[in-house]
Amino acid sequence: MKLLKLNFKGFRNLEDGEIEPGDKVNVIYGENAQGKTNLLEAVWVLCGAHSFRGARDSELIGFNSSNAKLYAEFYSQNRVQNAQISFYPTQNKKDKKEILINAIPKSAADLVEKTGAVVFSPEDLSLVKSGPAFRRKFIDSAVCRQRVKYATLLGKYNKTLNQRNALLKDIPKHGELMDTLEIWDSTLSALGGMLIKERIDFIKKLDICAKEYHDGISSGREILKITYDTNFETEGLSYQQLAEEMLKKLKAQVKEDIMRGYTGTGPHRDDINMEINGVSARNFGSQGQQRSTVLSLKLAEAKLHKEITGENPIVLLDDVLSELDNRRQDYLLNKTENYQVFITCCEESNKQQLKNGRIFKIDKGKVRLMSSL
Ligand SMILES: Nc1ncnc2c1ncn2[C@@H]1O[C@H](COP(=O)(O)OP(=O)(O)OP(=O)(O)O)[C@@H](O)[C@H]1O
Ligand SMILES: [Mg+2]
Repeated sequence: MKLLKLNFKGFRNLEDGEIEPGDKVNVIYGENAQGKTNLLEAVWVLCGAHSFRGARDSELIGFNSSNAKLYAEFYSQNRVQNAQISFYPTQNKKDKKEILINAIPKSAADLVEKTGAVVFSPEDLSLVKSGPAFRRKFIDSAVCRQRVKYATLLGKYNKTLNQRNALLKDIPKHGELMDTLEIWDSTLSALGGMLIKERIDFIKKLDICAKEYHDGISSGREILKITYDTNFETEGLSYQQLAEEMLKKLKAQVKEDIMRGYTGTGPHRDDINMEINGVSARNFGSQGQQRSTVLSLKLAEAKLHKEITGENPIVLLDDVLSELDNRRQDYLLNKTENYQVFITCCEESNKQQLKNGRIFKIDKGKVRLMSSL
């Protein structure tokens, strides 16, 4: 997908206007609080009808506007298409929005299917820095996008897990319930085996792509390795064998589980390991290394998106250049040409590093094209 034109009215602090981005790298620079992230958010909203900042739809409407409207022309599936989203305030708490694709009313899901974007925002650094829940969420949503059945599987697993946990809490009071635990164990481990297999398969593909990007970003100095981390050996196992291993663990830890009233083993407890040159990126990585790791993951996600859909997604990089040395900045500005990239920065010097692309300046919400290289 390539964005050809973006028109915005009443959106956040952006002054009503229009941009025609280039099909390679687009640098958006300006001082703090001028509207750089708002502009990226507008592009993202057009690719999925919601904000990447977790904002409510009504928050997207400019303080002095009665509604917000975004319109885009984009090239996708071998033709020029267009999309429009309008946001209207309502009296009740429910937000109201209207989506048109090629002038026909459509849903947000249709918009996601027609378009494609990957975003890096500073909060994504949590992927390396925070606890495993954040990484599980990343992998679950990435696999969901690849495999429609994965979401159903995940839903079934979580439901079964909740039922097993409820039973674990009841067993100390009603010992006779112990017999029923066996049924839940086999259902949970069968679903768990399938989930783990899907995740491992995805991580393997992600690892290959992310390694390549990290090699580029670090000019060959660092080797990134991403692996799936569960509490038993998984190498070369089929999903049935993974289920058997999980069942063994469940049985071995049943006493602890009853004491805790909680299932201590399974994909809901697993993690993703990220290592740079053999040591944990989380525990030992520098700020620049951690940032590079997340960027490599995001670019890898973009590459896998292309493999599934046949279309390159747009890459949105918010405030990514700070903490990166010149070589790493140069890679992002000049070696990501396969994608249409939107990259925000505060430093004027960054725009001078760009060899090929368009530069936009944003000042108090007014966006201007400064040069086209
Ligand atoms: N709905 C809205 N209507 C009007 N202004 C808004 C709205 N939502 C946010 N803003 C304002 O937009 C301004 C710019 O926000 P934005 O996050 O895009 O800045 P930025 O250029 O990315 O800055 P930084 O470099 O600090 O990240 C903020 O000062 C904010 O108050
Ligand atoms: Mg910002």
